[in-house]
Amino acid sequence: MVKIGILGVGTVGESVAKILEENGDIIEARAGKKIVVKKGVVKNLSKKREVSIPLSDDPMDVIDDPEIDIVVELMGGVEEPYALVKKALGNGKAVVTANKALLAYHRYELQELAGDIPFMYEASTAGGIPVIGALRTGLSANHIESIQGIMNGTCNYMLTKMINEGAKYDEILKEAQALGYAEADPTFDVGGFDAAHKLLILASIAYGIDAKPEDILIEGIENITQTDVAFAKEFGYAIKLLGIAKKVGKGVELRVHATMIPEASMIAKVDGVMNAVTVVGDRVGETMYYGPGAGGDATASAVIADIVDIVRGNQGPMLGYKKGLESGLQLLPKEEIVTQYYLRMDVSDKTGVLATITSTLGKFGISIESMLQEPTNDAGRATLLFTTHKTQESKMQEAIEALEALDVLEGSIAMMRIEK
Ligand code: HSE
Repeated sequence: MVKIGILGVGTVGESVAKILEENGDIIEARAGKKIVVKKGVVKNLSKKREVSIPLSDDPMDVIDDPEIDIVVELMGGVEEPYALVKKALGNGKAVVTANKALLAYHRYELQELAGDIPFMYEASTAGGIPVIGALRTGLSANHIESIQGIMNGTCNYMLTKMINEGAKYDEILKEAQALGYAEADPTFDVGGFDAAHKLLILASIAYGIDAKPEDILIEGIENITQTDVAFAKEFGYAIKLLGIAKKVGKGVELRVHATMIPEASMIAKVDGVMNAVTVVGDRVGETMYYGPGAGGDATASAVIADIVDIVRGNQGPMLGYKKGLESGLQLLPKEEIVTQYYLRMDVSDKTGVLATITSTLGKFGISIESMLQEPTNDAGRATLLFTTHKTQESKMQEAIEALEALDVLEGSIAMMRIEK
């Protein structure tokens, strides 16, 4: 028998306990041993729970219990779980976590501390989709060319509703929160940070890149309007919040942002709260992983898969590379990213304004691919919508600054990136 302790018995922790009991026969058959929850740790002992496992409000009751072999961390946050997980590893216990934020900041220190002790985290990225296992094991023969993923269900739900039903941003955010997918602070979802945490985890396994959220380009979906949605439809694009990792020579681009992608692409068809990750390997070609990126049972399914793996004795370096043998690839500075752009701007509808705008873009070497002008409104403002050919991020930022300084421009410019 293998005994586990769970730090944090919320929705996912309850599902872990429930599935271990209800699917106990098949899990035992697969692991080779019975897996039992010896104790769960909660902040509030008087709160009613769906499961009847022994509870404590002291994490040390799990961490210092010599009978507990595996500590499952499902409490969320960064520094508090980091301190506890370090203690658990110090006591020689294997760790399973679903905590993306913990890993976004501390995965390399944890790998160092874990050494040969198993440390697993399948549930941290794209919930129930076994994409970590796919990258760590299934694709280990490949150089990874790129990863592109819908890694935040809240944003995907909101964008799907905005595009398919013309829903208003604020109303739809409330609806997404009611579904129980949104983070406690939904700016983590709509600002792209949650997806960035997951992207950083995947980028470590794929490329050995040791970067923190602050090091990479992260933008959310807050500025998308129905004008952008209409333009995207007109030009055959879907809009998705994507996490993108791409090998470019010896560099790796890492970025999270709202993206226009061709409607016909597979990932464009992933709607609602579902997640999907496309990984291109140099030998296997394009692979795609689709499924629920959150939810109690789906996330618990990934947590239990890790526990089974540990019980079976499957090991290997936590982040997929043997120490000292990492890929040698470096994070590409965000200013050097090259992609296509979509721009939306309001201008005063006067003679020569369009020429001024296009010549300013030209000054920065930015070539226009397509353009649309919306009819002038009562206040004498016209909305201009452009897509550009491939341009370097730094040039685009400089051009936006120059355009926003023009007298004819009203307000600020909205920008989205395009991936074909
Ligand atoms: N807030 C996340 C989402 C939950 O919306 O996908 C899973 O990490």
